Amino acid sequence: MRLHCIGETMKVIVDTNGNINGTLVLPVWQDSKSMAEGTEEGVHRSLKSQIELILSAGDFKGKSGTVMTLAGTEGGKAMLAGIGKQDEATLQSMRDAGAKVTASLKKIHGKTLTVKFAGVEVEHMGAFVEGMILRDYSYDKYKSKDDDESDSGEITAHVTCENEKTKELQHSAELSAAVATGVYLARDLGNAPPNDLYPMAYAQQAIEFGEKHDNVHVKVITYDEALSLGMGGLVGVGMGSARKPCMVIFEINGDKPGPSPCIVGKGITFDTGGISLKPPPSMDEMKYDMHGSATTFGVMQAIVASGHKDRVIGVACMAENMPSSNAQRPGDVIKTYSGKTVEVLNTDAEGRLVLADGLWYTGMKLNPSYIIDLATLTGACVVALGHEASGLWSNNDELLNNIKKAGEHCGEIAWPMPLFKAFEKEMTDSKIADVRNLGAGRWGGSNTAAAFLKQFVPNGKDSDEQIPWAHLDIAGTAWGAKTNKLVKTGATGIHVRTLHHLITGQ
Ligand code: BES
Ligand code: ZN
Ligand code: ZN
Repeated sequence: MRLHCIGETMKVIVDTNGNINGTLVLPVWQDSKSMAEGTEEGVHRSLKSQIELILSAGDFKGKSGTVMTLAGTEGGKAMLAGIGKQDEATLQSMRDAGAKVTASLKKIHGKTLTVKFAGVEVEHMGAFVEGMILRDYSYDKYKSKDDDESDSGEITAHVTCENEKTKELQHSAELSAAVATGVYLARDLGNAPPNDLYPMAYAQQAIEFGEKHDNVHVKVITYDEALSLGMGGLVGVGMGSARKPCMVIFEINGDKPGPSPCIVGKGITFDTGGISLKPPPSMDEMKYDMHGSATTFGVMQAIVASGHKDRVIGVACMAENMPSSNAQRPGDVIKTYSGKTVEVLNTDAEGRLVLADGLWYTGMKLNPSYIIDLATLTGACVVALGHEASGLWSNNDELLNNIKKAGEHCGEIAWPMPLFKAFEKEMTDSKIADVRNLGAGRWGGSNTAAAFLKQFVPNGKDSDEQIPWAHLDIAGTAWGAKTNKLVKTGATGIHVRTLHHLITGQ
């Protein structure tokens, strides 16, 4: 039985034979004194005796996240991969251990690996493989190809385990590879330079995605249409740029009726701050300010790749925030798509303005069962949670708990934050408009931002209650998260897996 997964980079093949192709990768529980029973098959005796020597002497302890390479015997090469204490293993510790293998690959290991498991639970093996796949990403589109470059080229990972577990492991690896295509896409979009990835370039890519898949429909609300629809938030933020704003709506399985999950992303392809100009240090990082929309697109890709059958919606609010003679000013009052007016006190608080229109449009036009927005919304969220978790706000406890659980399952932590009435009051006490886009002081900045967004979530049809809605502030988790072992550098593709898991249950 040879089972192929469709990964963009790493190819995973679950084998039932004991053959070793290329470098042997041997996951080792902490403090193992010998090879796990069942992993010796097919291992050349000289390689085997070298491994046994190392393990019995305690020269490789198997601590999670450690690896040791053995080479130079006639029996081939091996990489021992520590997977930590067996009774402490978690999905995330296994993902991290798998990622460490990929991160440690050098020219000497070649491009073919055989991972040999025995006595490991399927979900832990699956997580290890998932970690290997997710870490096998780098963004080199803009690097001139060097013939000497040994890094390029696809890795093929053969995986073996007990016969009775192969089917389940195969399913798990296939799913990981499918979802990883969405994670890779989100990272590609996040990493793309802002001169090439501007609002209509994103829209163009979305249109091509729609053309490729029969069950995907993509609609673009252009700048002119946004103007005539009265989307004053999107227009206000984007009008200062020569690259005009747009809203992109993805519909998957649109023939399936009924209310559906809707994902809404902030897509500021570059955030200079506008007239409230940001200081120069690290301004280049504001190319990542569209990661909410990158995750939205990535979730769509993951959902399509994994073959989900129900309707799912994605909405990307795309704009470039530039200072210019056409830019909006601090002091402007804009009228949003909801009809509510907003006093723009700081043009750098622009994400909430484009989302105001995206949320209202989604709630009114797209028949949501719930709405989840993602946004690199506030520096304050990074102050609160660092790079370890996204902030999570919701008007619905069940939705909040489901997102939190899905995040935990995927190792993408979403941490509950408050939507106190006082924050809503603070954001709705503008002297001259319905809502202000800046808190009264600097405290609780990520909470006041969330309270602002809440003003633009409509009530359910014929209901006096708001549509279930949650907001994820991914300012700290979308890039620069050095403790995220599944990413080498740059955009993380955060929450593609969380939302895929939440929506599909897979
Ligand atoms: N895109 C930024 C938020 C951001 C800053 C994300 C740094 C990641 C790292 C957002 O548009 C912004 O500028 N927010 C302001 C809001 C303030 C003016 C109320 C901020 O956080 O300073
Ligand atoms: Zn800003
Ligand atoms: Zn921004």
